[in-house]
Amino acid sequence: MDFFTSFLLLALLSLSPSLSCGEMHPKVGVCYGELGNNLPSPPESIKLIQKLNAKRVKIYGTNPKILKSIQGTNLQISIMVPNQLIPDIFDNQTFADQWVKTKVVPFYPKSNIRYLLVGNEILSNPPNTTWFKLVPAMRKIRSSVKKFGLNKIKVGTPLAMDVLESSFPPSNGTFRSDLTEEIIKPMLHFLNRTKSFFFVDVYTYFAWVSQPLQINLDYALLQPTNITYTDPVSGLTYFNLLDQMLDALVFAMKRLGYPNLRLFLAETGWPNGGDPDQLGANIYNAATYNRNVVKKFAAKPPIGIPTRPGEVIPTMIFALYNENQKPGPGTERHFGLLYPNGSHVYPIDLSGKTPNSDYPPLEKPASNGKLWCVAAQGSNKTALAAAVSYACSQGNRTCDPIQPGGKCYKPNSLIKHASYAFSSYWAQLRTAGATCSFNGLAVMTSRDPSYGSCKYPNVNL
Ligand SMILES: *[C@@H]1O[C@H](CO)[C@@H](O)[C@H](O)[C@H]1NC(C)=O
Ligand SMILES: *[C@@H]1O[C@H](CO)[C@@H](O)[C@H](O)[C@H]1NC(C)=O
Ligand SMILES: *[C@@H]1O[C@H](CO)[C@@H](O)[C@H](O)[C@H]1NC(C)=O
Ligand SMILES: *[C@@H]1O[C@H](CO)[C@@H](O)[C@H](O)[C@H]1NC(C)=O
Ligand SMILES: *[C@@H]1O[C@H](CO)[C@@H](O)[C@H](O)[C@H]1NC(C)=O
Ligand SMILES: *[C@@H]1O[C@H](CO)[C@@H](O)[C@H](O)[C@H]1NC(C)=O
Ligand SMILES: *[C@@H]1O[C@H](CO)[C@@H](O)[C@H](O)[C@H]1NC(C)=O
Ligand SMILES: *[C@@H]1O[C@H](CO)[C@@H](O)[C@H](O)[C@H]1NC(C)=O
Repeated sequence: MDFFTSFLLLALLSLSPSLSCGEMHPKVGVCYGELGNNLPSPPESIKLIQKLNAKRVKIYGTNPKILKSIQGTNLQISIMVPNQLIPDIFDNQTFADQWVKTKVVPFYPKSNIRYLLVGNEILSNPPNTTWFKLVPAMRKIRSSVKKFGLNKIKVGTPLAMDVLESSFPPSNGTFRSDLTEEIIKPMLHFLNRTKSFFFVDVYTYFAWVSQPLQINLDYALLQPTNITYTDPVSGLTYFNLLDQMLDALVFAMKRLGYPNLRLFLAETGWPNGGDPDQLGANIYNAATYNRNVVKKFAAKPPIGIPTRPGEVIPTMIFALYNENQKPGPGTERHFGLLYPNGSHVYPIDLSGKTPNSDYPPLEKPASNGKLWCVAAQGSNKTALAAAVSYACSQGNRTCDPIQPGGKCYKPNSLIKHASYAFSSYWAQLRTAGATCSFNGLAVMTSRDPSYGSCKYPNVNL
């Protein structure tokens, strides 16, 4: 086969009816959040995004300064209707038209606006009437987009993995029953009919951190490991947690009759720092995860996911900056690829052209965090005392510090002594198979219960 024949054949093979033009090439982008009081200006930020070799950018609104700054670049941009406007839009086409006319039309097509997302993770909020206004609002916005001839713009809405009530095994993926009939089914119908995407925010970090001992960290970080999981129903084999989570969503869509609706990984990432009691939030893991995500989703030819080998899944990494005004735990303010001064938290090239082995080595963290095993709230006192006796009878000098005169004797409380005994027992015997359970009397924590000169033993991750 000569070069041209093989080229043609490859080109034909890579064509697939499910891919509309513009989505055939794997491209990774970055989410540009603006919740910081110390961030570079929009024009400077766009330059930084280009230096990262991002091909897409997602913003959480329609900041006109950003939309202007991307003109003349090759960046595709995804913009967003603010959550609070959904109730106004859902039953008022005029409102939708005016919003699109004032926020979007002035920048189209000079700014390469490709996706218009209606709200952000609306279905993750506590139930409220906005849930039921979401899909009608998406239809209204799409109708405005068509009215103004903005033909390149797809309409969607990013959802989090909590729209699933089951995601394990992946073949059991099922949407939450409180959402399915009234929201998810009409949404899937709309997205399929308009050839849009299911936009989903997926964080293996949050899955891992909720079960750090059950889920292997490297599996969550997309590192090459020998760990595999074979779904007993589908027979598909998984090599990382992200594939498992995405496939759960594919199976959930399939269950409702939409096996081919395209996926858009609208957010993924890993925190580079956080509060002292937050596990696994460090630069090493963040760099490892995000580089592996780029390697996977910018690969040519595309890799896809086990249910959809070879499919292009457009991807956005969260986030451009560490944002100091994000509420919540410390990790929320540490998802950035860049510090607010524009320097890299760690080197990363979103084009996918830098092999991971070309990055300078990163310092490995001493541990990915510490865990203690403490008495569960409201435990039965009699049962707790019995569990303490058992824990203290195991290992060597397990309970010395809680004996009279010991550093952890005072205050002489059953709960505190039990927490010491459980932590000490677990720290000594975990490698021998001991667990932090005691029939539900004990729970794991990453918050250090030590006080004064009383130090509780811990397990290192
Ligand atoms: C309902 O959800 C919307 C969208 O997330 C939010 O803006 C609004 O504040 C919520 N309303 C109530 C009463 O919680
Ligand atoms: C619909 O939106 C338009 C434009 O904002 C506004 O003037 C009008 O009062 C709204 N209609 C209703 C019924 O709320
Ligand atoms: C499958 O999902 C359902 C909920 O949709 C759940 O009740 C069931 O336990 C799951 N099956 C397995 C094997 O986890
Ligand atoms: C989804 O869209 C495809 C392609 O347009 C169409 O063939 C299919 O029937 C649609 N599926 C449903 C369930 O509407
Ligand atoms: C793979 O498994 C083998 C033996 O089970 C072990 O020696 C090796 O270190 C593992 N490799 C990785 C990358 O975990
Ligand atoms: C940028 O900020 C980071 C974090 O505060 C700091 O470590 C780094 O030295 C700063 N770089 C420059 C060039 O000021
Ligand atoms: C507390 O635990 C003891 C010993 O396990 C048991 O006999 C007793 O019934 C429990 N009390 C309550 C209120 O559950
Ligand atoms: C307890 O001490 C003995 C003797 O020093 C040692 O062989 C054993 O491994 C220790 N057990 C634990 C759980 O550390």
